Amino acid sequence: MKFFIDSANIDEIKDAISLGLCDGVTTNPTLIAKTGRPFEAVIADVLAIVDGPVSLEVTALDYAGMMTQAKKLRAYGDQVVVKLPLTKDGLRACKACFDLGIATNVTLCFSPSQALIAAKAGATYISPFVGRLDDVSNDGMGLVEDIVRIYDNYEFETQVLAASLRHPQHVVQSALAGAHVGTMPLSVIQQLFNHPLTDIGLQRFMDDWKKVPQS
Ligand code: E4P
Repeated sequence: MKFFIDSANIDEIKDAISLGLCDGVTTNPTLIAKTGRPFEAVIADVLAIVDGPVSLEVTALDYAGMMTQAKKLRAYGDQVVVKLPLTKDGLRACKACFDLGIATNVTLCFSPSQALIAAKAGATYISPFVGRLDDVSNDGMGLVEDIVRIYDNYEFETQVLAASLRHPQHVVQSALAGAHVGTMPLSVIQQLFNHPLTDIGLQRFMDDWKKVPQS
């Protein structure tokens, strides 16, 4: 499973790269706003340091506006993946991007039927939002499993990008479900390293090492 970092913060992205756990980046308008910086400045910095796909979201809601923005975003580089909302206009734009050879990430997916029509529109990635479904007492990971199964049944090339991952179990379950990609904040990437038995075991080794006679 590929690891994308869900962030527009340059320091966080650099940290993920230094850990060898940044196969790509996903952003959204909320993450861009959190930086407090202009959009163009943020994406120039992100594209300069990331060696992999970078999802940048359109903010237009209509087909024509989405296509104008998609072409503008793609002009920043071939690694740009245009993020489109799962709406009628979004999927029309997805099909048009497919025809133009522009990679897409269809976002805000909350049902298997939405994922099916996104694949039929030629989406490069589909982003089921696991944590947000869990937030409303639905089965977020069940959605990832259903999409993987549907795509396998028909050999769709659309990659399942498990999004809105909130903790390490979401990451593990996404991998078990066969998601192609998991996107997560730096805090979750860092949590993946942790195990109390690793800390206890290391402390014991260090304590015992002190007992080894010096030659
Ligand atoms: C995915 O592309 C989204 O940016 C993201 O995963 C949303 O996560 P959240 O629900 O934690 O905001």
